[in-house]
Amino acid sequence: MRKSLVAGNWKMNKTIAETRDLIFKMIAPLREITGVEQVICPPFMSLMAASALLEGSGIGLGAQNMHWEEKGAFTGETSPMMVKELCGYVILGHSERRAYFNETDQVVNRKVLSAQAAGLTAIVCVGETLEQYESKLTMDVVSSQTSNSLKGVSAEYAPRLIVAYEPVWAIGTGKASNGTEANAVVKEVIRPALAKLFGEETAQAVRVLYGGSVTAANAAEFFNQPEIDGALVGGASMKVEEFVAIAKAAAN
Ligand code: PGA
Repeated sequence: MRKSLVAGNWKMNKTIAETRDLIFKMIAPLREITGVEQVICPPFMSLMAASALLEGSGIGLGAQNMHWEEKGAFTGETSPMMVKELCGYVILGHSERRAYFNETDQVVNRKVLSAQAAGLTAIVCVGETLEQYESKLTMDVVSSQTSNSLKGVSAEYAPRLIVAYEPVWAIGTGKASNGTEANAVVKEVIRPALAKLFGEETAQAVRVLYGGSVTAANAAEFFNQPEIDGALVGGASMKVEEFVAIAKAAAN
C-alpha cells in the first residue's frame, strides 16, 4: 500500500514574510488531515522560516532544486547537505528547470544520486511537452526521462523515491490532463521503467504523483486512479482552501 502524498511547489513566489503568513494560515487545517503525507516547497530564502514554523507539525519541507556537488566554487548554488539541514525532500528535474536552466536527464541524474547520498527524498519530475504530446511521443519521452534520470539509483533507496508525472502542457495552463490518460502513462511507461531499474516489486512501492493544473475541483479525478498516489501542485498550493481541499481529497 503506497501512502498518498501531496506536495506544494511554490516556485519563485512568496517572500519570507509572505511565507510565514501563508504557512501560519495553512498549518492548522493541514494538521487535521491524516492519512496523507504533506510537503511544502517554498523558495530557498524562505526555507529557514518555514522550517521553524513546521517543526513538530508532521508537515514535510522540500527544496525546489539543488546542486549535485557537496560544496565548492559554484556561485549561487545550494548543496545537498545544505538542503538536508532544513528539508527532507527536494524536487528535481522540474520541467521549468529543464526548459529554462538547460537541465538534461544527465544533470537530473547526478542530482538524484546526490539526494540519495544525502538521505533526501527526491521528487523527480518527468513529462512531455505539448509538441511531443501532439506528435504522440509521450510514451517514448517519459520512458527515457524516467530511466535516464534514475540511472544508478539503488533498489534500497528506490522505495523512498517519488516520481511526478507532469505533462509540460498542463503546468500552469489551467488545462490539466485527465485521470485516465495520466494513469495510463504511469501504468504503461513509468512503472515498467521503474521495474526495469529496480525489479517489479520495488517498482510497485515507488509513489508516482500527477502534476499540472491540479485544483480542488479536479484532484479527486487523479487520486481515484489506481496508479496515481498524489499530486505535485503549483498555483493551487499557495491558496489555503485549495491546498487543504486537495490534501483532503488525497486522504480519502
Ligand atoms: P501548476 O504547477 O499546478 O501550477 O500547474 C504544477 C507544477 O509545476 O508542479
